[in-house]
Amino acid sequence: MRITINQIKEMKQKGEKISMLTAYDYATAKIIDEVGIPLILVGDSLGMVVLGYESTIPVTIEDMLHHTKAVVRGAKQALVIGDMPFMTYHVSADDALRNAARFIQEGGAQTVKLEGGVTVAEKVKRIVECGIPVMGHIGLTPQSIHQFGGFKVQGKTPEAATQMLNDARALDEAGAFAIVLETVPAPLATLITQRVSIPTIGIGAGIGCDGQVQVINDILGSFTDFVPKHAKQYAKLADIIRNAVTEYHNEVKAGSFPTDKQSFSMDESILAGLKES
Ligand code: KIV
Repeated sequence: MRITINQIKEMKQKGEKISMLTAYDYATAKIIDEVGIPLILVGDSLGMVVLGYESTIPVTIEDMLHHTKAVVRGAKQALVIGDMPFMTYHVSADDALRNAARFIQEGGAQTVKLEGGVTVAEKVKRIVECGIPVMGHIGLTPQSIHQFGGFKVQGKTPEAATQMLNDARALDEAGAFAIVLETVPAPLATLITQRVSIPTIGIGAGIGCDGQVQVINDILGSFTDFVPKHAKQYAKLADIIRNAVTEYHNEVKAGSFPTDKQSFSMDESILAGLKES
């Protein structure tokens, strides 16, 4: 049975920590799902860690749907969240609803995520009213990176902190089932967590959140362009991949790969007949 948004909300009530990871492909989603992680986000971070863009802004809805379908095929238990990319929910509530529906109908996701607080609350309400669960995302919202002028900690001034609390409340009132808090001072994230009825999922927002999310490539150490301060590398996959690829390359050049073990034989008499023809 797949996890439901009600079970995620109950985890907050029970004080049970919620873990969430991103995934962009079938094989990784399958492993995350088998471990029992209840939330898988097909994040638009795929623009950076999979597609090699400098930000998430160039990511299209077609890119997202392509990867969402792959993740859904791998995740049997986890709730899959499709991340709505830049400009797919900004123009109007109708537009937001239509694009959210594509994630559910075409992508096979169970929920969507979008960035913003008060300014998107009306769109969140409309999507939720039509039966599509929404996860909010406030703090450092990467689609607004040009507005912020870089990847900076958000909510440090009294005005910004108050605004963030208002954003969280607006999402809660609009019917969101959870809120991502990204790159937010830990004490502010803790306060927001206490003030909203729905789970907060932190990334660079401290231990006081109801749950945590990380980009899978960051915790595996497979993305080498930069390592965010909030990420802990549980593995160094880039080194493992580099060593394996180097060994393969050297063996091909030396003529020691493939061996008989990786090759296929055939009937000698057929071969002899071919040679005589
Ligand atoms: O796109 C993404 O991976 C995200 C997470 C960082 C929350 O939005």
